[in-house]
Amino acid sequence: MQIEKTVEGVRAQVRAWRKEGLRIGLVPTMGYLHEGHQSLIDRAVKENDRVVVSVFVNPIQFGPTEDLDTYPRDFEADCILCEKAGAALVFAPEVSEMYVEDFSTFVDTSKVTEELCGKSRPTHFRGVCTVVNKLFHIAAPDRAYFGQKDAQQLAVVRRMVRDLNMDIEIIGCPIIREKDGLAKSSRNAYLSPEERKAALVLSKAIFTGKAMVEEGEKDGEKVLETMQNIIQAEPLARIDYVEMVKWDTIEPHHQIDCPILVAIAVYIGKTRLIDNFLSH
Ligand code: PAJ
Repeated sequence: MQIEKTVEGVRAQVRAWRKEGLRIGLVPTMGYLHEGHQSLIDRAVKENDRVVVSVFVNPIQFGPTEDLDTYPRDFEADCILCEKAGAALVFAPEVSEMYVEDFSTFVDTSKVTEELCGKSRPTHFRGVCTVVNKLFHIAAPDRAYFGQKDAQQLAVVRRMVRDLNMDIEIIGCPIIREKDGLAKSSRNAYLSPEERKAALVLSKAIFTGKAMVEEGEKDGEKVLETMQNIIQAEPLARIDYVEMVKWDTIEPHHQIDCPILVAIAVYIGKTRLIDNFLSH
């Protein structure tokens, strides 16, 4: 497996692969990889001839009071996971390689970024879209893989690709969970043992809401209220949002009569965790 730190290094390899007619899959990540990331890499390896994994903690998607400085990193372990999973190349640039000093071009996707995480993290998706756009230009993939764990991010990337006519297939992959239900996340590393237990209210709320919808509940308010009550019963939990939106447009919609996304963001102590389910 090749490890590249420069844009030019990736480009040279990708050009060579393209000449051979090989199909390229891209898995963008911020590292500290776990089974959630691995499921994306596994799927990409199955569906493409060569897989590029990017490992880059993207500063411009973090707000000024967020966890950029403490974001967990373990590049050696990431490379081992990528190699075992069958990735051909890991792209791990320095910040200065991705953002020149007077960098001044951003990709701003509107509408689908207004609700959910876009509300509490106003510059987040601009940062995500900009870096994903750059990665798409650098790795020139046929397909790119994103987790349903970050459901709004998946919807935003799909919208960007559609609106800007990018010739890249976006593949959404299911949420991978711990045995007890907690959605796997690099940020779970922040949790103390007590917080780790408290964090189970997220998956508990998600599973309960999902069961209500599957049993035919059409009243979104009832579902949201039940979920809120579960979370509020945990003293270490503080709700950022518990919301129901149309899956394609990310507009609030409290009637279960079309494909809907039910998404939550909850602080457990200082750690902000997210989870969600789709109605269809
Ligand atoms: P990161 O949080 O590292 O996640 C990388 C990819 O892994 C995302 O598509 C995310 O949805 C997926 N993922 C994370 N946990 C998962 C889980 N438990 N099950 C399934 N998929 C999971 O998301 C980002 O990085 C960044 O915003 C990025 C897209 C790389 C842009 O910087």
